[in-house]
Amino acid sequence: MRLDIISVVPDLMRSPFEASIMKRAIDKGLVEIHFHNLRDYSNTNYKQIDDYQFGGGAGMVMMVEPIDKCITKLKSERDYDELIYMTPDGETLNQGIANTLSLKGNMIILCGHYKGVDQRVRDHFITKEISIGDYVLSGGELGAIILCDAIIRLIPGVLGNETSALTDSFQDDLLAPPIYTRPADYKGWKVPEILTSGNTPKIEEWREEQALQRTKERRPDLLED
Ligand code: ADE
Repeated sequence: MRLDIISVVPDLMRSPFEASIMKRAIDKGLVEIHFHNLRDYSNTNYKQIDDYQFGGGAGMVMMVEPIDKCITKLKSERDYDELIYMTPDGETLNQGIANTLSLKGNMIILCGHYKGVDQRVRDHFITKEISIGDYVLSGGELGAIILCDAIIRLIPGVLGNETSALTDSFQDDLLAPPIYTRPADYKGWKVPEILTSGNTPKIEEWREEQALQRTKERRPDLLED
């Protein structure tokens, strides 16, 4: 998978890709991340990329031209499966979207900043608009990191067997059951006996029950359909 991330502040985004699971995926050659600073595509001396909105109103708007130049250059070099725009009015990210996107090859992720991008960018280039939740961030960059993390950990070979994504919360529309590790008794706080019984079918049954109970209590909406 190749991810091209377009931003006005790419430096904000580097460190999560230099640590942990995302770094491992890059080191294994399973993912390539390329940052593109939108200011490099500005045609003005002082690298302007935003301007006042037509019709008046507070907040700057990212101009169509630098974004067009950047996207057009990238598209001339390879084909893209998706061109994603991070925006609070997009489709809310969930595990289903992450699963779908983890199967793609090349994607561009455009991070909005200020008030957002000129609508013509969205009309003519963007294939998918994603929000990470019903709150407004100062830019799409942090959302893009979250999106990348959610996608990258699902790519086959990124997680070891011991951390398989198949048992994550949401993978089967259920929250994950409680988990424990050694010691089995800490200050009298005991691990449920079933987990140390060695009876694998019973343990599986217990985990399924617990997952269902937890989902009913915390996220009944997941069980609705
Ligand atoms: N940019 C600003 N707020 C955002 C959000 N909630 N999700 C994605 N991108 C954003």
